[in-house]
Amino acid sequence: MLLPYRELDCPHVDQISSDVWEFINQQTDVMTVSCLRKHFTWNFIDVRALIVGVTSLDAWFRSLGLRLRDVAATVTTSSKGLEPHKDEPPVVAKINFPVFNTRDTWNIWWDDHGREIARIQMLKPMVFNASITHGVEMGQNCTYPRVVLSCMFIKEPKHLLEIP
Ligand SMILES: [Fe+2]
Repeated sequence: MLLPYRELDCPHVDQISSDVWEFINQQTDVMTVSCLRKHFTWNFIDVRALIVGVTSLDAWFRSLGLRLRDVAATVTTSSKGLEPHKDEPPVVAKINFPVFNTRDTWNIWWDDHGREIARIQMLKPMVFNASITHGVEMGQNCTYPRVVLSCMFIKEPKHLLEIP
């Protein structure tokens, strides 16, 4: 049995978020009008370019013994949020890193009977169990667009979801 999520300590989270935000705006087309027209977009980012462009993010992952394999920026532009779903197998443990406007936005997990089992506002990075039904709810006071990095690793950090 694995936890739905676990928040991770990241002393320089605000600086890293702002570095990633700058990278996304300057070195990708994620925030272009055509991308933003979609309601909730999953945009793969060139991992090599991200590692080189935002060394602070890679350094933090390396401090956890993790090496990035794939990264996607998820962008939410409307109050609809993200419907309950499970991610495609086989990856279970991903790390979600807040980038922009995550305040008053909520990650929620449900059991197989549709009962809510966990809910958290993503102000810190978290290891995230994508095999449990989950979604995103936008609060009354959130700001758009909301941007989060979904990070997948060469060896997935399932150990961080184990119950201590
Ligand atoms: Fe998901």
